[in-house]
Amino acid sequence: MRIPQILMLYGDILEKGLQEALSDPISADGSSHDAGPLYPTLRYHVGLCDERGRPVKALGKMLRPSLLLFTAQELGADMESALPAAIALELVHNFSLIHDDIQDHDELRRGRPTVWKLIGVAQAINAGDLMYSIATRKALLAGADAAGVIIDAATTMIEGQGLDLAFEDRWINVQSYIDMIDKKTGALVCCAFRAAGIIARTEQATIDLLTSLGMALGRAFQIRDDLLGIWGDGDLTGKLQGSDIRRKKKSFPVALITQETNEEGKALLESVYAQERISDDDVARVIALMGSLDVKERGEAVVEGHLKEAREHLERLPLSKKGKELMDELIVYLARREK
Ligand code: IPE
Ligand code: IPE
Ligand code: MG
Ligand code: MG
Repeated sequence: MRIPQILMLYGDILEKGLQEALSDPISADGSSHDAGPLYPTLRYHVGLCDERGRPVKALGKMLRPSLLLFTAQELGADMESALPAAIALELVHNFSLIHDDIQDHDELRRGRPTVWKLIGVAQAINAGDLMYSIATRKALLAGADAAGVIIDAATTMIEGQGLDLAFEDRWINVQSYIDMIDKKTGALVCCAFRAAGIIARTEQATIDLLTSLGMALGRAFQIRDDLLGIWGDGDLTGKLQGSDIRRKKKSFPVALITQETNEEGKALLESVYAQERISDDDVARVIALMGSLDVKERGEAVVEGHLKEAREHLERLPLSKKGKELMDELIVYLARREK
């Protein structure tokens, strides 16, 4: 699937912004001081360099900052006023990923070793904290209102991450799953739109529409992510297949089978998830149960539903005709992406 234009428009400017935000700090008198080992790690994590500090191009999709910049510009703001918020949001996202990989015990991110695999859990916690601290400082440059939206979104995302981990130890239904992903993923996607609206000083009704669009998109995005985690191609996603099941994550497919399987299926789930470690064979048995309930197809249909909803909100937004076309291309990509 072709990369949508919105994700290609701001590559250079975002890369420069990240480089600037994550460079080693210089003292007020111009001399360099020993800032410790964390800054190179942050540059490694976002994909500006490899583990030995050599420049590489391994950045993520830059979804959230691209959405922010594009929406702000469409609503009449200039690039300069929107850039600090865009960088701050991408840094918050990357902070969430550094800690998420520790929490999820994931060893691969964007096809490369995760930060905790590289420098250990203790320093990875520091790296994530530093990323968030730099993000907060950057957010302030966007003005108090936009900074407030970014910090509130980070708060909600962290609440969602708390729910995500709590759900590892209990069965949940699809509604609880949706409430959880609205927080862990929806909040930052929504934030891109809301911050854009605030920076462009747009009216409240438009910000409300932007919020609805962000929520629909966040759902489509995370459910697609969960489906890819089981049925996707690991070479494309850069993540290990089946790790959600191994980690007892209540991803969309698991929430759906929990809710809908029969007694026999429930017994299978109970016995598999009661184990300390889930073997490859048991992962395969859970995936087979999902197959018998057409979970992949039903998940794709749910994603399509959110895609449709997102398009309805988009239609009502005061964006240019071209702007709506490009946004539509992005929405479709997010719902049907393979990576
Ligand atoms: C990954 O987000 C975390 C989720 C919310 C699923 P992205 O898929 O946007 O990550 P990168 O930045 O492009 O790698
Ligand atoms: C996504 O978490 C949300 C955040 C990182 C805040 P996941 O754990 O579902 O995402 P991946 O699959 O590791 O990217
Ligand atoms: Mg997680
Ligand atoms: Mg994860």
